[in-house]
Amino acid sequence: MTTQAKQTTRSAEIVRKHKEYLWPAVTNFYQQPLVADHASMQHVWDVEGRKYLDFFGGILTISVGHTNPKVTGRVKEQIDRLQHLSTLYPNEAIVALAEKVAQITPGALQSSFFTNSGTEANEAAVLLARMATGRYDVVGLRHAYSGSSALTKGVTAQAPWRKSGVISVGISHAISPYCYRCPLGLKYPDCEVACAQDVENLIQTGTSGAIAAFIAEPIQGVGGFITPPPEYFKIVFRAVKKYGGLFISDEVQTGFGRTGKKWFGIEHWEVTPDIMTCAKGMANGAPIGATITTKELAASFQGLTISTFGGNPVTSVAARATIELIEEEKLLENADAMGRYFRGHLEELQKKHALIGDVRGKGLMQALELVKDRATKEPAPEATAQLLERTRENGLLIGKGGLAGNVIRLSPMLNIGKADVDEAIRILDKSLSEVRV
Ligand SMILES: Cc1ncc(COP(=O)(O)O)c(C=O)c1O
Repeated sequence: MTTQAKQTTRSAEIVRKHKEYLWPAVTNFYQQPLVADHASMQHVWDVEGRKYLDFFGGILTISVGHTNPKVTGRVKEQIDRLQHLSTLYPNEAIVALAEKVAQITPGALQSSFFTNSGTEANEAAVLLARMATGRYDVVGLRHAYSGSSALTKGVTAQAPWRKSGVISVGISHAISPYCYRCPLGLKYPDCEVACAQDVENLIQTGTSGAIAAFIAEPIQGVGGFITPPPEYFKIVFRAVKKYGGLFISDEVQTGFGRTGKKWFGIEHWEVTPDIMTCAKGMANGAPIGATITTKELAASFQGLTISTFGGNPVTSVAARATIELIEEEKLLENADAMGRYFRGHLEELQKKHALIGDVRGKGLMQALELVKDRATKEPAPEATAQLLERTRENGLLIGKGGLAGNVIRLSPMLNIGKADVDEAIRILDKSLSEVRV
């Protein structure tokens, strides 16, 4: 029976109310939206009782499994103990999280400011960089996604996410290290990473020549898991420093083990940022944002700041439980091993299905870019939408991204095992065969 036919009155009513009472800009996946009922570890159930294997994790946010009892157990205890009092009163939960974060961050990034989202984390990072340097110009990257506020929409560089009203004075965008669609028409490694040189040229031509910061995602998430060549960020880092800027690594998608082996995505690229921003997977679904920097930079923040809910005891406990679980269960290693295993199978699928133009990513952050023709690389957004429908019918949740909406994003929980990866590959294979465009 198809999803359409099986739709119950309850789910129809929820979809109707979603349309009636929420902003239309807040869209749902699927022609017939999936109304979630409950979830456990790698699985989600809809209100019709259908079970799905989740390979998107609420947009890379469920890092150690839905309702993982080792996290929710501690959250429940904390709710009964102390929910909120604000940062005006220190408490054990927030300092324990900040201490834990300081233990796993690279370099001298020891000081945290907690908020509720990636947007706020990036806002605080840019604000701090401007205060610390006394400069205004910020350089970002095309294809970036930075958040939903006015400033972060200005840092974002994909038209669908920055329509009318977005003013990005003082923010310039360098070209993205998007090898599959090289904006310079070059091929790695013969290109000698020419895209990285563009950052210096942009600073010289599109800014005052003295910048507050460069901000980028180590792998561009919403942009379609655009993965730079290994040398890219090292070259960019040198240019940023030459012009006095701070390097901000937006780890909202790549942080907390997502890319395997390392805690943070930027560590793969052997660059130590001045500021890191985190959210999503950090607390396994509890709303959190963190802007982490050195003690010296943190001390240069002028005036006061506060985030009422930022670092509240319940969220802080959820984040610490998540991080400790990643440590205890050696999930950085698992994400690396399973990421490689998954990647191998995705490349096998690419050999079989002409629709897959590119396979890219790192660890458990893997993408398939779908094209109508491998020679012309014309994006295939309709086939991508259909693949989403087919995988849903076959019991697998996957994500979508990319400027043209033609990139499949795959990001299972870090504690995923081989059997589930095999099942995801089987469903992807079957579903790819069912796409008719
Ligand atoms: C890289 C990146 N930065 C920032 C954000 C904004 O995070 P939030 O939606 O929690 O505000 C996102 C959200 O998708 C993101 O992917």
